[in-house]
Amino acid sequence: MTRTINELKSMIDDYLSDHLAADVDQDTLYSSMRYSLMAGGKRLRPALTLATVEMFGKSVDEDVMHAATALELLHTYSLIHDDLPAMDDDDLRRGKPTNHCRFGAGMATLAGDGLLTLAFQWVSDNNLPVAIRAELTLALAQAAGPAGMVAGQARDIEGEGQQLSLDQLRYLHRQKTGALLRYAVLAGGIITGQPQPIKAALADFGAQFGLAFQIYDDLMDVLGTTAQMGKAVHKDAGEHKNTYPGLLGTAGAEEQLHRALQAARDAQVRLGELTGRSFAGYDQFLAYFKL
Ligand code: IPE
Ligand code: IPE
Ligand code: MG
Ligand code: MG
Ligand code: MG
Repeated sequence: MTRTINELKSMIDDYLSDHLAADVDQDTLYSSMRYSLMAGGKRLRPALTLATVEMFGKSVDEDVMHAATALELLHTYSLIHDDLPAMDDDDLRRGKPTNHCRFGAGMATLAGDGLLTLAFQWVSDNNLPVAIRAELTLALAQAAGPAGMVAGQARDIEGEGQQLSLDQLRYLHRQKTGALLRYAVLAGGIITGQPQPIKAALADFGAQFGLAFQIYDDLMDVLGTTAQMGKAVHKDAGEHKNTYPGLLGTAGAEEQLHRALQAARDAQVRLGELTGRSFAGYDQFLAYFKL
């Protein structure tokens, strides 16, 4: 059985809502973590993991949910910290005041710390085979840590004072956003015990999707509205952020977006050839990119 993205989203929402309280032992910290976690994210990352698991013919049980939704905890931490006054200094996220606006920068920092740490608890504290839990834990650390998302965020703030080349900007985007989306898809292959060549093709699909995702986010900062995005737009240029439209103009950024999406579709086809299965379930994720 393969569920639609909307069905997966509501399963993820319910799971997060029901399971956070058991692992947080301080009232304000819990309120702050829950506030951002349940503020209405699209849940694309855990949905990609679950869709991948289902496309390999494995059913989604409690243990798979625990491991897969961990990534949404970690992603939410990254948003809380990204919005802090010392980082992007944003007031609106997921259509609501940012965590630090509501709870103060100290509690927002701790809510992020709590969500990051709890993510590693959830990938390791479940009944999946121990080798799978170990592999997920390592892959998540590599994706989220100082050679992955955190490195990309460091390049992003350091780059505010300089003009990066297209190669440098692509590298930054692959780290800051691509790494977690790559992990999201790869995790579905780890959970279902796929051999290395198939995991490599999954990782490639996720990495190309992730690059496309940040190029699109850059474009939406220029072309989108606050109502549509649930966050402030038209901010990147004023903050001297390195972005695709900033470097290439909107037409050039759109061309790079289409290239990344084509590379993702090529990986999707390769997955079908390698496995004899259908990966048409990824089409609904690729439909996110509307210009
Ligand atoms: C926002 O991610 C941050 C970026 C990587 C661009 P999403 O667009 O997935 O945000 P939510 O989770 O739906 O709020
Ligand atoms: C941040 O990129 C991605 C993260 C790692 C959190 P942005 O700073 O462009 O994300 P938004 O636009 O604030 O969501
Ligand atoms: Mg940022
Ligand atoms: Mg930001
Ligand atoms: Mg952005």
